[in-house]
Amino acid sequence: MPARKHETINPFNPDNDSAYRAWRDSKLENYPERIEDLIVEVKDPRQLTKAEHEVIHDLCRKTNMAIYAGATGNDPDKAIPGYLGKQFGLTELDYNMGADDDGVTSLKVVEDKWRKGYIPYTNRPIHWHTDGYYNLPQRQIRGLLLHCVSPASSGGENALLDHEMAYIHLRDANPDYIRVLMMADAMTIPPNNENGEQLRPARSGPVFSVLEDGSLHMRYTARTRSIEWSPDPLVREATAALTALLASDARYIFRATLQPGQGLVSNNVLHDRSGFDDTGEYKRQLYRLRYYQRITET
Ligand SMILES: [Fe+2]
Repeated sequence: MPARKHETINPFNPDNDSAYRAWRDSKLENYPERIEDLIVEVKDPRQLTKAEHEVIHDLCRKTNMAIYAGATGNDPDKAIPGYLGKQFGLTELDYNMGADDDGVTSLKVVEDKWRKGYIPYTNRPIHWHTDGYYNLPQRQIRGLLLHCVSPASSGGENALLDHEMAYIHLRDANPDYIRVLMMADAMTIPPNNENGEQLRPARSGPVFSVLEDGSLHMRYTARTRSIEWSPDPLVREATAALTALLASDARYIFRATLQPGQGLVSNNVLHDRSGFDDTGEYKRQLYRLRYYQRITET
């Protein structure tokens, strides 16, 4: 990866055309086009071999994600994904509202009082998003890990899109799309109020931002309720272009239904989840770990 630290050479700065073109060329060269290219068989995700680690790390450098396929099967030990994450520098977990004391969230259908208002704990589909778009700017989620204990009887597929590929798509369509999506008030999530109590204030921020290490961060949700987009007409155009991309069958959109022992390690790439059926033998259970860090050296 070329150094991206300085403003003048950072390819994500919409004014740096030559840096962008050089970065884009190397990004697109040999970019994987099949989900199989992202899957890495590993023996024990808790303790990867040097070779396994290297393959996963190389993939994450290229595509911001990889799927490990470990031999732990439906072992429900919540420590498994945590050990995997640590080997990629992921240690600072986000203790969000749904997480347990260890910072790991068990995603499954539950009926308790507050969770049933939240789609992640139902079997309904979830639209495209990156995790933690409603977090404070200094608490943005840069790393995301999902680990499957059990898939659903049917459904529960994740679509995955490297956010850098979404960036390329939009910038190639119109660099001004990037400029407006980098505005500090591009996307606002209204406050979360429940029974007259404010659980979270409104959160405004950009869709695309450049982190202090020069990498690209994306904050996005495709939901159409409880979201306020900047009234700038170009923002509307840009988000329409993004919506069209996400609804398309673009070859860089990968689809995977995680199987027992499989997991996604990522720099919080764009993803969605299809609805699923839990009425058969299998009840879907995934662990989710959100980190404040990106995968090291990606
Ligand atoms: Fe998510």
